[in-house]
Amino acid sequence: MRFLITAGPTREYLDDVRFLTNASSGRMGYALARAALASGYQVTLVSGPVAIAPPDGCDFVPVRTTQELLEACERVWPECAGVIGAAAVCDYRPKIRATGKMKKTGGPLLLELVETPDVLAALGRQKENQFVVGFALESQDARENALRKLRGKRCDAIVLNAPTAIDADENTIELIDRHGVTAGEWSGSKTDIADRLIAWISQNLIGPASDDL
Ligand code: CTP
Repeated sequence: MRFLITAGPTREYLDDVRFLTNASSGRMGYALARAALASGYQVTLVSGPVAIAPPDGCDFVPVRTTQELLEACERVWPECAGVIGAAAVCDYRPKIRATGKMKKTGGPLLLELVETPDVLAALGRQKENQFVVGFALESQDARENALRKLRGKRCDAIVLNAPTAIDADENTIELIDRHGVTAGEWSGSKTDIADRLIAWISQNLIGPASDDL
């Protein structure tokens, strides 16, 4: 049984050397990949650029842009039992990507940005007996926003956390199930939280680990 896990930030390029991105170390997603492997699942880890090495034994797909993340995920999605979206996806991209390196003009530069595709929502729309677990990073109206994402992306559960999670070893999360009910409130290292999340997914969203998918 294979888990698809997205991790790290995506980049959206202004030209060949400059990009917009999100702050994200990839630690939560990589910890989830390690925990899933340790529980006997196969893992496809699709990750934006981070400074940590992928765990041994996973299928690793490095990506840079949100479009690349979407295409990599859609390719493997039919073979996966579910997805955990831990990636910090860059929501906007410059409408025009210049080739080479843009020159300074001496004046201000206005950037027109357009939305990138929502990868988790796309997988949610295509799901067939597969689980979808999202993350929600919220700084205000946290629960309300997390519930909107849970429903809008057709998630089976959503992990609510705060900006203090960024680049940290520890995290504090609320796990919300598909009914909007709190299924767990956990604090600790990202490794501990990953272990608890994989155990919860195993017990609540799928049967015991097996090779039949
Ligand atoms: N996500 C995604 N593709 C996007 C944006 C988000 O797959 N273009 C996923 C993230 O990996 C996460 C969940 O959707 O699992 C929620 O991401 P978050 O950044 O908290 O929310 P957004 O949907 O981007 O909404 P907003 O930025 O308005 O809070």
